[in-house]
This record gives sequence, C-alpha cells and structure tokens, in this order.
Amino acid sequence: MTDVRGRIALITGGAAGIGRLLAVELASRGATPVLWDLDEERLEPALADVRARTGVTARGFACDVTDREAVHRAAELVRAEVGDPDVVVNNAGVVSGSRLLDTPDTAIERTFAVNTLALYWVTKAFLPAMVARNRGHVVTVASAAGLVGVARQTDYAASKHAAVGFDESLRVELHTLAPRVVTTVVCPYYIDTGMFEGVRSRFPRLLPILHQDDVARRIALAIERDRRQLVLPPLVRFLPLLRVLPPTVFDRVMDVLGVNVSMDHFTGHKPPA
Ligand SMILES: NC(=O)c1ccc[n+]([C@@H]2O[C@H](COP(=O)([O-])OP(=O)(O)OC[C@H]3O[C@@H](n4cnc5c(N)ncnc54)[C@H](OP(=O)(O)O)[C@@H]3O)[C@@H](O)[C@H]2O)c1
Repeated sequence: MTDVRGRIALITGGAAGIGRLLAVELASRGATPVLWDLDEERLEPALADVRARTGVTARGFACDVTDREAVHRAAELVRAEVGDPDVVVNNAGVVSGSRLLDTPDTAIERTFAVNTLALYWVTKAFLPAMVARNRGHVVTVASAAGLVGVARQTDYAASKHAAVGFDESLRVELHTLAPRVVTTVVCPYYIDTGMFEGVRSRFPRLLPILHQDDVARRIALAIERDRRQLVLPPLVRFLPLLRVLPPTVFDRVMDVLGVNVSMDHFTGHKPPA
C-alpha cells in the first residue's frame, strides 16, 4: 500500500489529459503533484485546475523528457525546490497514427524518444533516491497497444511494447535491489483525451472508449494499492491468453473485434483554435 498523503508525486506530460487529471486525483488524496510538460505556459492552467479543485499548490517545471540533459537539470530543480519524488509517473506520450510507409522517419524517432527512451532518463534521474531509502513507486503509462500490435501503430505499439518490457524488467530488478520500491504498468484501451481523436470501437460494450476521469482515478487507486498492472477494460486482460493461438488465428480474432480498423478515422488532437 502506497499512502500518498504528504508524498511528492512527479508526473510527466502533466499539462493535459491523463497527467493533469491524475494530478488532481493525487492532490485530493493529500499528495503534492509536480508536473512536467513541454512549456510553462501550458502548465499554468493545469496548476490552476489542481489548486481550484483540491486546494493543493502543485508545482510545474518545463521539461522536454526526450532531452536527457534537460531531464537532469529539471530533476535537480525539483530536488532543490520541492524534494525527492516518492512517486514518479512516466505519462508523457505521443502518437503518429499513420501506416508505416506514410510515417516520416522523424515522427518514428519522436515516438520512441517520448514513449520509450524518456522512461529511462526520467526513471534514472529519480530511482537512486528511492533505492537508497527503499521506498518509492514508478508508474509507466503504457497502453493496450503494449500488449498487441495494431494497424497504423507500428511505431506507437512498438514503443509501448518496449514500455511494458521496461516496467517488467525494472519490477524484477527492484524485487531484490529495493523490494519496497514498486512499479505499476498501465495498459488502457483508447481514452477520450483527444490524443486518439477519431478512433472507433466496433463493440463499445466489450471495448469501450474509456473516460479520462475514470482512468485517472483507477491509476491513483492502483498506486495506493501497489497494483503491479492496471489493464483496462477487463477484456484486454485476456490478450496474453489468446497468444497461444497461431498468429494468423490471433490476427483474425483481433479483426473480428475491429481492432485493426479502429484507427481508420484517426485524426488525433485537434489543432488549437
Ligand atoms: N488517450 C488514449 O487513448 C491513450 C490510450 C492508452 C494509453 N495512453 C497513454 O497515456 C498517456 C497520456 O496520454 P493522454 O491521452 O493524456 O495524452 P495527451 O492528452 O496528449 O497528454 C500527453 C501530454 O504529454 C505531453 N508531452 C508530449 N511530448 C512531451 C515531451 N517530449 N516532454 C514532456 N511532455 C510531453 C503533451 O504535450 P503536447 O500536447 O504539447 O504534445 C501532453 O501535455 C500517454 O503515454 C499515452 O500514450 C493514451
């Protein structure tokens, strides 16, 4: 059980979507959120939101998590001005949403830089202090696409498979190194934050588009309960079992569920008005 009261919780990609709502959830449970995002201007409304809804003064720092040096500079600032985080949530993420041959090389590199490599820079910046006091929590927001490949997600799904592998390997490493430093990997299906605007679910009862408030609340609960894995909705938990099927049969099951046409109308975030 991770009691977040009085604890410092650092969240990357905290200006919008799940990061912003998770900050509200954790603040309402007594934590002090520290939000990182690309620029301070975008963080201001999120900090104001946390203050208005919980009365907690969260802190915000501009940090591009793909920039290793910037991560270490921002981590130093956090340690000096707020303290060592007890909870680190690797949440920042991006998606290209196009077929491999339509995805520019720069977009592929960006996907891996944000969704995969940044996990290493951010976690390595804060893990030593957690290991030293044998207490802490590292959350990796992966995706259901970390458990299954999806058409138009060759970069995104691969980057999230890597995120799942990162979490699992770190979890077992920490088991002997610092058993009270725990990890949680989060693997949700699509969420209504706008990041996957335009996606469709063929069977919304089985595979609903998740509500962002609900996902943020479930992540906060998973942190409090030291859950090692949060997979949403429940049907997605059966994916690993279906892996016993031959790949062609597995693919047909995913086709029947509509998974590989789910991105056909993807637009992603609307440009700001
Ligand atoms: N939405 C879904 O359907 C869904 C489903 C499964 C998993 N997830 C995962 O959940 C996490 C949160 O997604 P979300 O839906 O809340 O997305 P979101 O609304 O787009 O929020 C992501 C935040 O991360 C920020 N960010 C992007 N690149 C960054 C960087 N290099 N450094 C620092 N911050 C950066 C974004 O800033 P900008 O807006 O300026 O880019 C944005 O504020 C992601 O890891 C995503 O892959 C989302």
